[in-house]
Amino acid sequence: EGKAPAGENRMKGDLDRVRVDSAGQMLTTNQGVNVASNQDSLKIGLRGPTAMEDFILREKLTHFDHERIPERVVHARGSAAHGYFENYKPLTDLTKAAPFNEAGKQTPVFVRFSTVAGERGSMDTARDVRGFAVKFYTDAGNWDLVGNNIPVFFIQDAMKFPDLVHAVKPEPHFGMPQASSAHDTYWDFVSLMPESTHMLLWQMSDRAIPRSYRMMQGFGVHTFRLVNDKNESVFCKFHWTPVAGVHSLVWDEAVKLGGADPDFHRRDLWEAIEAGAYPEWELGVQVFTEAQAEEFSFDVLDPTKLIPEEMVPVTPIGKMVLNRNPDNFFAETEQVAFCTAHIIPGIDFSNDPLLQGRIHSYLDTQISRLGGVNFHELPINAPLKPVHNNQRDGMHRQSIPRGRVAYEPNSLAGGCPFQAGMQGFTSFPETITEDKVRGRPEKFADHYSQARLFWISQSPAEQQHIINAFRFELTRVQTQAIRERVVSLLVNVDEELAAGVAAGLGIALPEAAPLASSTDFPVPPPSTALSEQHF
Ligand code: HEM
Repeated sequence: EGKAPAGENRMKGDLDRVRVDSAGQMLTTNQGVNVASNQDSLKIGLRGPTAMEDFILREKLTHFDHERIPERVVHARGSAAHGYFENYKPLTDLTKAAPFNEAGKQTPVFVRFSTVAGERGSMDTARDVRGFAVKFYTDAGNWDLVGNNIPVFFIQDAMKFPDLVHAVKPEPHFGMPQASSAHDTYWDFVSLMPESTHMLLWQMSDRAIPRSYRMMQGFGVHTFRLVNDKNESVFCKFHWTPVAGVHSLVWDEAVKLGGADPDFHRRDLWEAIEAGAYPEWELGVQVFTEAQAEEFSFDVLDPTKLIPEEMVPVTPIGKMVLNRNPDNFFAETEQVAFCTAHIIPGIDFSNDPLLQGRIHSYLDTQISRLGGVNFHELPINAPLKPVHNNQRDGMHRQSIPRGRVAYEPNSLAGGCPFQAGMQGFTSFPETITEDKVRGRPEKFADHYSQARLFWISQSPAEQQHIINAFRFELTRVQTQAIRERVVSLLVNVDEELAAGVAAGLGIALPEAAPLASSTDFPVPPPSTALSEQHF
């Protein structure tokens, strides 16, 4: 009885048209011709050369030769599952976004978890950030919340992303190390980028060796906008909180598991879902106004900063359940294409300069990863809402648009897609009156206060894990000057932390830089007015 979960609907109904079950069927070529023998090629005499005309052999080999597609340039290693998001209460006073407009409404989702640095076959338990990407198949089109399991990021501007990734990936001359940040180029880069200090603390903490994908938080990281149907907007940060709690491995476990079972997290997610122990997360939001944001000592457009919950509480707004494993790893987990540009009416971007760059990068990379401009038609990427527009052609087009015209306005078609006006996506009309410049706001400059906030939030055992992680990673760095530069960043965060790391490396403790605000993180009084009003 009851309502079938939305995730089920997507899988059972919508995708049935592309499901193939070949058990007990006669083998065919791709043209549907029955194949008599799948064992031997066509030869001129049993011991003679193979005939050029053996179209069956040639089709089979050709297809095989092209089985691989490029792996993702980052987040190559991942695992995914289907499920649904269920909204608790209508949030229509804050946003017109479809998933949030009714109590109990279910929206199908597909979620992919990943490591960042390792290649497609690398081990799951490497010390790394984890991707947490959610595709909502909403009734207003697809919305992708492409987040991580850590609430901040290494860099403040998209301009630095290729440098970051070139530094963390295997070194170009000998292709090492695989799935690890323990090497000179990585530490060289971050030691020269003080803005990465906060993220480094998280990365060296237990958060970077999760026990399970089911036991990780997820964060949208950037500040986004919520927009309601009166075109009023508030800022928003998204948080996923695992119902199973946040749990991590300890380093020795991570290392052993990496050797004994490189698929540890993939297997764990798969088996939990097969066993009916469906992983669940609560979605929470931190909602705040532009006026409030002005008062913060940091800039909400700076993705190396979070908003402490003492300042803006996280309000749970719904839950997500993952209840179905993919049928086919390649067709779904590999071919899924998340993109920060996929937003729907009711959600909008902020001017975070990292987010702005991401809006370009995902579609762009997927054009080469997935071959052309029509991968939105792949079943895993297609929205549930029908697509109508005048875009046409391109490699691997699947839909068959009918009629004579593919332009607008026209007088010949007798009806073509019309623009939706107020029912369509409209960008929030933010007023901007500033100079066009390269540079960063002054408020982006404090790189240490929140790193310190994270450090002091950790228990003594967790702090020791962080010190040990820095020691382990840095002892693998060959260049002494790089090790010293990292320690001099850490002095600005906490002297005990820096001393612990320095002792492990046999380095004298440098003095804190003048910029190092040793002041405690200024926490203004909680601003609950907005949350009380809305929740
Ligand atoms: C994947 C670019 C920052 C989360 C990717 C991919 C690219 C990319 C090119 C591969 C996509 C694909 O092949 O489908 C960038 C750029 C960034 C940036 C240019 C900064 C300017 C971030 C940040 C986060 C993030 C801050 C987290 C908030 C992810 C995730 C994936 C991904 C989760 C994997 C998605 C999947 O599972 O398919 N990124 N990224 N990225 N990125 Fe970013």
